[in-house]
Amino acid sequence: MIWFVNGKQKQSKHMITLGEFLIANQQKHHHSTGEFSKVIHALRLAAKMVNHKVNKAGLVDIIGKYGSVNIQGESQQKLDVFAHKIFIEALTNRKIVCGVASEEADDFIDIQGKENDVESKYIVLIDPLDGSSNIDVNVSVGTVFSIYKRVSKLGTPLTSADFLQKGSAQVAAGYVLYGTSTVFVYTTGNGVNGFTLNPAIGTFYLSHPNITIPSEGHLYSVNEANFASFPKSVKSFLKDQKEKDPKYSTRYIGSMVSDIHRNLLKGGLFLYPPNAKMPEGKLRLLYECNPMAFIVEQAGGKAVSMHERILDIHPTHLHQRASFFCGNSEMVDMLSSYLHS
Ligand code: AHG
Ligand code: MN
Ligand code: MN
Repeated sequence: MIWFVNGKQKQSKHMITLGEFLIANQQKHHHSTGEFSKVIHALRLAAKMVNHKVNKAGLVDIIGKYGSVNIQGESQQKLDVFAHKIFIEALTNRKIVCGVASEEADDFIDIQGKENDVESKYIVLIDPLDGSSNIDVNVSVGTVFSIYKRVSKLGTPLTSADFLQKGSAQVAAGYVLYGTSTVFVYTTGNGVNGFTLNPAIGTFYLSHPNITIPSEGHLYSVNEANFASFPKSVKSFLKDQKEKDPKYSTRYIGSMVSDIHRNLLKGGLFLYPPNAKMPEGKLRLLYECNPMAFIVEQAGGKAVSMHERILDIHPTHLHQRASFFCGNSEMVDMLSSYLHS
């Protein structure tokens, strides 16, 4: 197998596990100290627990609504609440990050407690379960995470500025796709690597080394039911692609992680434009757009909002939404020429 350690090509006769990959990369890369690896280990453990539950949907009482509404006014599914709890516990019990913010919680969680005794400089932002409305119908769902270094002083209470950093400040970002197989994909700013879970032994193996998005894409993914209230520029773009070029196919699952994972491997454009119901866009800048934008850019693609590069947006609140377009550079550039004309 060909893989990359700190940007250098390596060859190995055996399959590399996620654990081995972390150790190999942690020595030299300035972001990947032992402390960072522990955060990934905790996310990996939580992902395996959520995967176990997702795979039993239908057998255990996990499908359907939980009966509550989150801060963003969305009805929570049982699995949203379960996944949130699992990821928060995995990160807080080990005291390996100083704070967490989740799509399913009103405010960020300062893990340091009254003692401020957590040494870690890392914070995590997470969408514990993405595409949760798909769980009841056996369609793939995911988890998205984003890791930053706190900007406030170690040993002091966390502030909102620690969480409201630009996406370009991310130390790492990743997603887990609970699909036909379970894949853990992440980047530390040195390329993108994907690891597939062997469920029999509970180990993630490097299956997608150095993921690069194909430069040409034939797929576009958008909820076209909202077409009537899309901005004019987006409407013209979609109309022109369909009318002028027969090469395109639509693929839309309605689980962002699955839609973007497919486009990352096959080439394509994912769009969630603003619409009448969601004038800012639907997707959450901090939990969804930023991590996916970092990954897509690291794979050689691009990610933009209606006005600017996603990773350049300065967030003003935790649950902020953004319009989101990402994919291979050629398609994003073509869309951008419509957005800015
Ligand atoms: P979540 O389940 O975390 O709330 O995210 C759902 C998101 C995203 O996964 C998907 O791309 C989008 O909602 C689908 O929205 P529409 O149903 O409006 O197309
Ligand atoms: Mn989501
Ligand atoms: Mn979610």
